[in-house]
Amino acid sequence: MRIQELADTARALVADHKGLLAMDESNGTCNKRFAKQCIPQTEEARRAYRELIVTTPHLGECISGVILYDETIRQSKKDGSPFIEVIREAGIIPGIKVDIGAKDLAGHPGEKITEGLDGLRDRLKAYFAMGARFAKWRAVIALGDCLPTQACIETNAHALARYAALCQEAGLVPIVEPEVLMAGDHTMEQCRATTEQVLLNVFEQLHLQGVVLEGLILKPNMILPGLTCPQQDAVEEVADATVRCLLHAVPAAVPGIAFLSGGQSAKLASARLNAMNSRSNARAAPLPWALAFSYARAIQQPALEIWRGRQSNVVAAQRALHHRAQCNVAARRGAYREAMESM
Ligand code: 13P
Repeated sequence: MRIQELADTARALVADHKGLLAMDESNGTCNKRFAKQCIPQTEEARRAYRELIVTTPHLGECISGVILYDETIRQSKKDGSPFIEVIREAGIIPGIKVDIGAKDLAGHPGEKITEGLDGLRDRLKAYFAMGARFAKWRAVIALGDCLPTQACIETNAHALARYAALCQEAGLVPIVEPEVLMAGDHTMEQCRATTEQVLLNVFEQLHLQGVVLEGLILKPNMILPGLTCPQQDAVEEVADATVRCLLHAVPAAVPGIAFLSGGQSAKLASARLNAMNSRSNARAAPLPWALAFSYARAIQQPALEIWRGRQSNVVAAQRALHHRAQCNVAARRGAYREAMESM
């Protein structure tokens, strides 16, 4: 196993206050988002949208890595240049989503298990040959009456760890993404308790499978109240609860934590990350890991709403995408301000 290369890639993914851009929506998810904007749900529209993203001027100044989907990693710009080349030329590391989705967990209504381990070794080999240097696997954990069950937590943690071990064997840095969902009326404290339990299980399984912590990136949810919880906690409370939870559960050897946005608004995702970093900058002892971002919706959504499938909107959409990326780089420094939103 090329441990030094894995550690170098993992560190590069969180270096220079940059972060990750997730553009790995499956065709189904991408089509659903297109449908809301009345964009045709075709392969060509998905290709054109991904071309808009990867050709955004100066993207590499803010984005260290992009997460692609199997269809996208094989696509090219209209002029024939493969996306993977365009990405590398922009100084961005290409990554790939390798799970095949969350399916119903047998015997556990309302819970999911992420699938995709069968044949994964060969797929990882092929993606490495194409130029990918990191991968992503997302597990989803629902919060609710008597949920999650220990069965759901343990099966998902086990799958994440087996995926991570296979990635490292293939020379790819695994992004380990256990997402405790925002849907529901649970409190921030319930989210914290469940997230901590999930993360402790995930790191136990990673240890069992021999995964090298220096060569992975954790992609967790922030500690948030449920979307329909009557009490919506302040940005600073979310920041402190999130950092406290991570300090309890994430070993110091992990180089970086890159949050998912999970359905938060783009502005809140920046403000909350900013609060974590600005409050951490004021701590007596620095945090052991970088606190970064790996957002899909919180970077892409404003751009998608501007584009709406029209060539004439591409430049304005790219400007919006770049602006969100800049806001999140500022949030990594603890220098994001509300005033940036009107620039
Ligand atoms: P969101 O930031 O939209 O939650 O997406 C992140 C992601 O990669 C989901 O797996």
